[in-house]
Order: sequence, then C-alpha cells, then structure tokens
Amino acid sequence: MGLSVAYSSSAVVLLLAVATIVLLLVFEDESSQLSRTLVDYFPSSSSPSSSSAFVQHQTDGESSQLESDLVDLTLVEGAAEKDAVCLDGSLPAYHLRRGFGSGKRNWLIHMEGGGWCSSDLSCAQRSQTSLGSSKHMARQILFSGILSMSPSLNPDFYNWNQVKIRYCDGASFSGDVDSDLVPSGVRNAQHIHYRGQKLWQAVIGDLLHRGLADADKALLSGCSAGGLAAILHCDKFQKFLPKKATVKCLSDAGYFLDVQDISGNYSFRSFYEKVIKLQNVQANFPESCDSKDDVTKCFFPEYLVKDIQTPLFILNPAYDVWQLQNIWIPDSADISKAWNLCKNDPIHCSEGQIEILQGYRKKLIERLKIVQQKDLWGLFINSCFLHCQSEVDTAWNGLHAPRVNNQTIAETVGEWFFERKIAQEVDCAYPCNPTCPPWNGWRRKMLK
Ligand SMILES: *[C@@H]1O[C@H](CO)[C@@H](O)[C@H](O)[C@H]1NC(C)=O
Ligand SMILES: *[C@@H]1O[C@H](CO)[C@@H](O)[C@H](O)[C@H]1NC(C)=O
Repeated sequence: MGLSVAYSSSAVVLLLAVATIVLLLVFEDESSQLSRTLVDYFPSSSSPSSSSAFVQHQTDGESSQLESDLVDLTLVEGAAEKDAVCLDGSLPAYHLRRGFGSGKRNWLIHMEGGGWCSSDLSCAQRSQTSLGSSKHMARQILFSGILSMSPSLNPDFYNWNQVKIRYCDGASFSGDVDSDLVPSGVRNAQHIHYRGQKLWQAVIGDLLHRGLADADKALLSGCSAGGLAAILHCDKFQKFLPKKATVKCLSDAGYFLDVQDISGNYSFRSFYEKVIKLQNVQANFPESCDSKDDVTKCFFPEYLVKDIQTPLFILNPAYDVWQLQNIWIPDSADISKAWNLCKNDPIHCSEGQIEILQGYRKKLIERLKIVQQKDLWGLFINSCFLHCQSEVDTAWNGLHAPRVNNQTIAETVGEWFFERKIAQEVDCAYPCNPTCPPWNGWRRKMLK
C-alpha cells in the first residue's frame, strides 16, 4: 500500500514537527500552540497564501482545485455598532458561496476552529493573528471537504449555500464581556474585546438577511473549537430558522473529554475554567445546561448533549491527535518527554503507551452512549490518529478516505442528514482499520 514510503520519509517530517513544538513552547502559551498545531497540520484550514505548496500540489492530484474553490471574505458591516467584534475590535467575517440548483435554499454553515485563549496576554497575542482579527485574514480561502462543490467528493452538500465563519474570539464563539480592556504587561497593547457570542449572532443575523431565513434545510457544523461551538449553539441556531425547515448540527473533532491527563491532573478542565472566567462564557451556555455548581461542565459535550433537542452528529477520531497531544498527554504531564515520539506518530508508541490510549478511546465511547440512544442522531468514530476530518477532501470522501464498515464520513453524514438509514458507525480499536492514513504520512498522502 505505499505506506512504507510514507513512513520511511516521515523522519524529516517528525523532526520538523518536534522542532516546531519546541519553538512554540518557547514563544507561546498552551492555547496558541494548539492553534498553530492545527494550522501546521491542516493547511486547508489556513489561508491559501500560507499553504501555497498544498494548493499547488492539489491541482495535480486526485481532487483538482477549481478557481471557484477560492471563496472571498465578507466582513459583517455594522457589527461594530452591536459590539460584535473580533478580539482586536475588527469586524467579524465569513466566506459565502451561493448554492445552486436543488441546493439553492439549503445552507451549510461551518465554523472555523483554532484552540482558545485563556489569559489577557494570550488573547492579546492572538488578536494580532488571523485567529483574533479580520485584518489578518486571507481575503480568499480554499473550500474543501464538506465545503467542496464537487458532486463526487461532496455528494449531499456540494450545491448548498456554503459558509465558513471565521474564528476570531478565542472562546468558541461564546464569550461575552461588557467592558473592553487594555491588558497590562503587553507591549503595544490595544483594547481587547471578548465578544464571541455577539459576533456569532451578528454573523447569523447577516446570513438570515441573505436568504438563510428562507432555508429549507440547514446544517450548522464546525471543527475543533468550532466543533464545540456547533454543539453550544445548536439549539439556538434551530430557533433562528423557519419551523418547517430541517435543521441539524455536526460537531467534528469537538468532543473534548473531561478526563485526567496521564499525570492524574484535570489540566484541561483547569484551562477551560480560565477561558470561561476570562471571557464570561457561562452567560451564554445553553439554557438546558444547569450545572450551577460547576460551570465548567457546560463547556464539555459529554454533559451538554443530553439536553440538546436538535439532531446532532458527532464525528471524532477515537484517537483525536489534538486531544492526545493537549488533553491526555500535555507536555506538562510528560516532564520526562517519554511520549514525544508517540505523540507525533503512533508507530513509535510502546505497547504500554498504546494501552493508555486505548483507555482514552474507551472513555470516549462510554461518554458517547447518550448519543447512540437518541433517535435521529449520528456518529462516526474511526480508530485513526487524525483531527478535523470534515474540512479535508481526502478524509471527507477522497479515494484514500478512512472508512468504517466500508462507509466514508461523507456517506455517513449524508445518510444521517437525509435520514436514509441509521448512521452510527463506531470502529474497532487501533490498529484494526487499514483505511486510516498514517499520521505522519497524512500530509504527504494528501499531496499525492
Ligand atoms: C498536578 O497536580 C499536582 C497535585 O495537585 C500538582 O502538584 C502538580 O503541579 C500538577 N501538575 C501539573 C503538571 O499541573
Ligand atoms: C465498499 O464500497 C465501495 C464503494 O462505496 C464498493 O465499491 C465496494 O464494493 C464495497 N466493498 C465491500 C467489501 O463491501
């Protein structure tokens, strides 16, 4: 299967990855490191300019990119008057490609991910990047995966109105602090705005005017921090749309677990506590989440999903590389760096390490039981080492796409949305699935 080629040449990639992580550790805090990790590994979620090599190669590959795959940035004019702004005070933004044919009145709204910021300092740093300011966003981005307009790659959503909402608030589109502040101890500090919730409402309001208000079908999706946002905003989204419309939500790689890391600490929960407090996120938790004793719980899908009314699809690799690197085995919990190699490619994991990862998979599946019990809900848990599969052609539905029970993600999500059949696929444990791309060869494979 050509996998050995990818493996043998993966040493360079691995070295680069380790070097990147070391650099990021020196210069950035946990949260911004995460977002960089995303961008590094998933060029499609970044701008074409920062991943031109990817675009170039793709043109020769199995999914040739058309001119129309580049979609313009739209700024939401008038949002500033409603205090609906990015961290730096700039206007919220999205990319919209109009639907056509039978998809004319259907809307797919996808939210960008990219970690969170948990302190004034890290949010101030973020405010000077595309994850905190529309001033830094590329004017055009590539639409791929669930946003592809190719009928073969994206059979059920290719002709829908397609939107990618840009992420620039640092709290999964859910912060809401009334006063703006100038953080102390930050060089050239500007006012910082924690307005994710208002930003999200302003974008949806703008889209309602552009035809979303007459939608027949609508799907709110998102990846990573955007995948969490898809869960947090799901029921609210449904309420904005006509009663007769079919409305559903898809969370890709957003099922972050409330678990102890390998050192026994709930380090990710502590991180979330800081984000929630800093950005006053609890003001906007779904009404149904009433965890007054511990507000952090309403930021974890495992506690949220039971009360969600709108049909939801959970797409998550069993070994989500982001969770593995940042929740289960954060650097702070691996002082001896015994996991460094394994964290970057499972072929370097010892038997003992794999056993620990199997434990996390078990926890994920346990905490998804609630999803399996709900009518009209969907599930795709493949035993791959990946993150954010819906945005990438090759994971969504490409020739080399991962499959469970011979089904691709695109096929399963389509069957769920249109209720063609029950769509709940849970894979056997690693390394049982030969369709999983090797983690370090993943990018290489995409470029083929
Ligand atoms: C983990 O928790 C222990 C005990 O609360 C604490 O001493 C230690 O510093 C924590 N480690 C990390 C990496 O946060
Ligand atoms: C798997 O699916 C493909 C296309 O969807 C089909 O051609 C193939 O026969 C299927 N394989 C098995 C073993 O069912």
